[in-house]
Amino acid sequence: MDFRIFDTAEEIARVCADYYSALLQKKPDAVLGFATGASPIPTYRELIRRNHSGALSFRNVTTFNLDEYCELPREDKNSYYTFMHENLFSQIDIREENVHLLNGNAADLNAEAAAYEQAIGTAGGIDLQLLGIGTNGHIGFNEPADHFTNKTFVVELAKSTVTSNKIYFENGAMPTHAITMGIGTIFAARQIILIATGSKKAKAIGMTVNGDITPRCPASVLQFHPNTVLLLDKEAAAEL
Ligand code: F6R
Repeated sequence: MDFRIFDTAEEIARVCADYYSALLQKKPDAVLGFATGASPIPTYRELIRRNHSGALSFRNVTTFNLDEYCELPREDKNSYYTFMHENLFSQIDIREENVHLLNGNAADLNAEAAAYEQAIGTAGGIDLQLLGIGTNGHIGFNEPADHFTNKTFVVELAKSTVTSNKIYFENGAMPTHAITMGIGTIFAARQIILIATGSKKAKAIGMTVNGDITPRCPASVLQFHPNTVLLLDKEAAAEL
């Protein structure tokens, strides 16, 4: 696992977008794993800019998002479906039929999870997975636990995740569960980029890079991944 430290989130966005440019030049029909949250937003802006300038095309890519809340209507402003369409998909030349997000309202969530795993496999696996990290070390919504979960599954959100994310929900009422790629799903990506900015992430980044590999800090598993880079600002890297 490599890490690179930058002064600003904008620099991180440019460097991160360079990885996309390099991949899509080699493989225009790459399979991309995307994340939601604040961390990837500057990168999405940069990808949009490059798409509009003609430097980057998403015409032939297939995408899979990491996770989605359960029991939140797809049209809700806080759903990850809405987030991805507002912050990226509606602004680039991607084909809607190539976009995959988990359905957190599926009648049978286990079947939804299995179908998602199958769709990723049919697409040939994920070439490049983008990640943020929770203050508790979660990736996707793999919360600290006694064991790693391999495949896509339904999870109860940790208290710290609710604390971090409830600010987006009016009157603070947010879903308690989500459906997320498992650690094995994420780990199977051929390349992983994790973005972390701000001092709130310093402890989690310290544990991820230098701590034991443990499901108590799910991101620590990335120490074993052969092609992972962490793009950090100085605040997030403060404990390295
Ligand atoms: C989002 C996701 C989460 C976030 C993490 C950090 O799809 O899976 O793991 O990446 O909670 O969120 P931000 O970037 O908002 O600090």
